[in-house]
Amino acid sequence: MQAQYFLLENQDSYEQWRQQKLAAYPLDLTALMVTLTPNTAAYTAQIECLKQQTQRYNFALYRFAQPDQVTRYHLHQLAHALGLTDLHANLCADEDSLSAITQTQHEGQHDYIPYTNKALSWHTDGYYHPQDQVIHGMLLHCMQPAQSGGESHWLDHEIAYILLRDANPAYIKALIHPEALTIPANELKGEIIRPTSIGSVFSVHRGQLHMRYSARQRNIHWRNDPMTQEAVTYLNQLWAEDQSPYIVRHTLQAGEGLICNNILHNRNAFQDNPHQPRLLYRGRYLQRVALPQH
Ligand SMILES: [Fe+2]
Repeated sequence: MQAQYFLLENQDSYEQWRQQKLAAYPLDLTALMVTLTPNTAAYTAQIECLKQQTQRYNFALYRFAQPDQVTRYHLHQLAHALGLTDLHANLCADEDSLSAITQTQHEGQHDYIPYTNKALSWHTDGYYHPQDQVIHGMLLHCMQPAQSGGESHWLDHEIAYILLRDANPAYIKALIHPEALTIPANELKGEIIRPTSIGSVFSVHRGQLHMRYSARQRNIHWRNDPMTQEAVTYLNQLWAEDQSPYIVRHTLQAGEGLICNNILHNRNAFQDNPHQPRLLYRGRYLQRVALPQH
């Protein structure tokens, strides 16, 4: 039933859903931030609150009441409570498959902007993954913010779908084409460490909309047809103008984090305190955040 919203032929249910989604904006992030107190009686209700917000906005924000006591164990515990159990291990993940996002010189990571202090363009996670490793859920936890900069911008991918469909329904048609977006193979020292990834931008998985996207300009091939090109230009303009009331902006502080159904996001450039470099932990999951019980 949920998939009906996204189908181009179902204009009525789409309109209804669209109105509901947009009416929630602008969001008040301060009000949405959920304070977490693990190992207390209130924790179950706090988790439920995160699930409710993720159901509504495809993301939720939390803050641990005691940031300095948060360990990787607490993050796994949190993810698990939210139904995020299948953690995807990427090339740069540590042994327990949470990736430490910080400036680093490790071989193999040098090409990846996430591990530098440069601005990170709009994307959803795992847009270069094969079809059987689609990332549906994500947790991003801040252990240490940068000295300056490092603000994140987020946009619910369902809102991006709405904006594109409002601009021209043909954009949606172009972006659900199975060859809309190609990411060439990743090679390191002549060895292919990730094969070419070809797929659509929008797809529906178990009745839920998924978006596979990157605004990067290099090593990316958009399908060579006018509507695809126009849709890409539309999104590029949206990012360049940076005026949309639906884009949410926040700099994660120590102990704070984002839970999401792999929404669109970017990050501003930042400057580190050399003694306390910015450090975030990221988990990528093969499922979405669980639905609330009520
Ligand atoms: Fe990301």
